[in-house]
Amino acid sequence: MSLLFSPLTIRETTFRNRLWVSPMCMYSAEDGFPGDWHHVHLAQFASGGAGLVVSEATAVSPEGRISPRDTGIWDDARRDAWAPVVAAVHARGAAAGIQLAHAGRKASTWWPFAGRQGSVPAAEGGWTAVAPSAIAYEGFAVPAALDEPGILRVIADFRAAARRAVDAGFDLVELHAAHGYLLHEFLSPLSNEREDRWGGSLENRARIVLEVVRAVRAEVGEAVPVLVRFSATDSAPGGLEVDDVATVAGWARDAGADLFDVSSSGLVAHQRISTGPGYQVPFAARVREATGAPTAAVGIVTSGEQAERILQDGQADAVFAGREFLRDPHFALRAAGELHEDPAALWPPQYVRAYRERPR
Ligand code: FNR
Repeated sequence: MSLLFSPLTIRETTFRNRLWVSPMCMYSAEDGFPGDWHHVHLAQFASGGAGLVVSEATAVSPEGRISPRDTGIWDDARRDAWAPVVAAVHARGAAAGIQLAHAGRKASTWWPFAGRQGSVPAAEGGWTAVAPSAIAYEGFAVPAALDEPGILRVIADFRAAARRAVDAGFDLVELHAAHGYLLHEFLSPLSNEREDRWGGSLENRARIVLEVVRAVRAEVGEAVPVLVRFSATDSAPGGLEVDDVATVAGWARDAGADLFDVSSSGLVAHQRISTGPGYQVPFAARVREATGAPTAAVGIVTSGEQAERILQDGQADAVFAGREFLRDPHFALRAAGELHEDPAALWPPQYVRAYRERPR
């Protein structure tokens, strides 16, 4: 059996395999509610054999949405809207995760297919974004710097959102500390110029992430896996580098995090990244090596053989894919075929004729 299609257990959740659907915003929510789109979109990946389906960046508070069309889980009504989506994923054999997020200074922006760019004005449904410091992301409105009660509220919002996620049936939560959103903005010296206990040294800049991990762990108990997505580098001079992030990941592990999902960049518009197949995998390997904790690799992984090699080389314990699942929601079934896995073990019985009777 391949490693990719070997089960993995974290705390009390067993994943049927290690090819996972990366969180992807659909910008298709009405007032924070997931709806029909999310239901079909997420369930199809479970039918397609993924081991874990992580729903998009879901805001812990209304002002934490990237755009007015993001999903949220800031109250019980939105929690209840997630429950049938989770049930649909479970019914098809995959674990269900949710990415809990606060967009920080990148909140209140137009969604990618809105036909407009930049910040949404208040008159058109926008709001004032908040951040560690009043420093704008290039092209966006200047955010308001959070005060101490505001920071404590963010931590409490993550905690309450994690409770609702578990109550909605999600098997795990992933905390979004990457891609230039609020938690990442605290971590990076390029966006955090605070002079209080939430800024300055790496330890101070990491404080909010660690407080969120501790609060979420205390809330969800010992059974539920808690993942953290980090950007391993800001890809810009003076920004975070992978060794900083590996240090923070080690602290986060001690605070109760289980696995690190290692992405990169997104903090500043002037970043310089060179992408290519598996371009972020070395970051996952570095964090794994430095912390001894399991990691997931992500970024241009498009075949079962490529994903298997990442695991065989000891660079990560699981692989997330995003766009390849959008191109082919049955990517995991295809990957299983490439790796000569028994199709009967993964193919839904309703679909298995399509496998047996395939043209050769
Ligand atoms: C994303 N990505 C992303 N990442 C994240 O942490 N939270 C999110 O909500 C989103 N939203 C999102 C939407 C869409 C349409 C895409 C294509 C991507 C990034 C995604 O999870 C993944 O990290 C990258 O796409 C790189 O992986 P692939 O696509 O090369 O497999």
